[in-house]
Amino acid sequence: MKKLLVANWKMNKTQKEVADFFLEFKKSFSEKRDAWIAPQTLHLEMALSLTKSHVKIGAQNCSEFLNGAYTGEISPASLKDLGGHFVILGHSERRQYFSETSKGLNAKVRSAISQNLKVIYCVGETLTEREAGQTLSLIEDQLHQGLNDMSIANTENLIIAYEPVWAIGTGKTATPAQAQEVHAHIRQVLHHKFPAFGKMLRILYGGSVKTDNVEELLGQKDIDGGLVGGASLKAKDFLALCGDK
Ligand code: PGA
Repeated sequence: MKKLLVANWKMNKTQKEVADFFLEFKKSFSEKRDAWIAPQTLHLEMALSLTKSHVKIGAQNCSEFLNGAYTGEISPASLKDLGGHFVILGHSERRQYFSETSKGLNAKVRSAISQNLKVIYCVGETLTEREAGQTLSLIEDQLHQGLNDMSIANTENLIIAYEPVWAIGTGKTATPAQAQEVHAHIRQVLHHKFPAFGKMLRILYGGSVKTDNVEELLGQKDIDGGLVGGASLKAKDFLALCGDK
């Protein structure tokens, strides 16, 4: 399977910046690696109209409810109807600033999967948890709770992103060995949880992925791609991450 690079643009970019990005990106993107992009919800339709099918577009969050009286929420059914391909769920910023928990995220994950959206489910430890030696058990809990009571129909439906909280937006990256250790553990947990597909699910690394560390990270056995914030905002940088210099 090709390596997958997912751009998480968070709450950034104007419409013009979105248009300029795709203009530049499309000129050089060669599909050596898979590229998916998650713009702000307000820019989803525009992004979908500016890309061809080779770049997949998705959201950064969605509701557990499909529709109804839930003011301000993002319906996974409408995201699918719009042509959205995937949704990122459980990003550490959602956990930190919007009180999301793995248990609560389970409903969102299942709802999105029920709509045939691909889910990128994020897990990761804080620095305090790492220093207390809790990384692997904490991540195991996040996986068990967030992915409780669900099945997946094929290997494409679910992707896990390991993002150590202390590495997000800080310029500090986990060493390739630190990341690989956690990825190998995640793969084992997935294998037990989903015997038919678990070993083949993609596991992305996120947290200060940049052009100068991407190759070493992607060179690790269990790292199947990256979830990228800051370095995905400029087309030139994201192209380089996708292997197109
Ligand atoms: P970063 O963000 O690449 O800016 O560290 C990663 C993420 O939050 O997904």
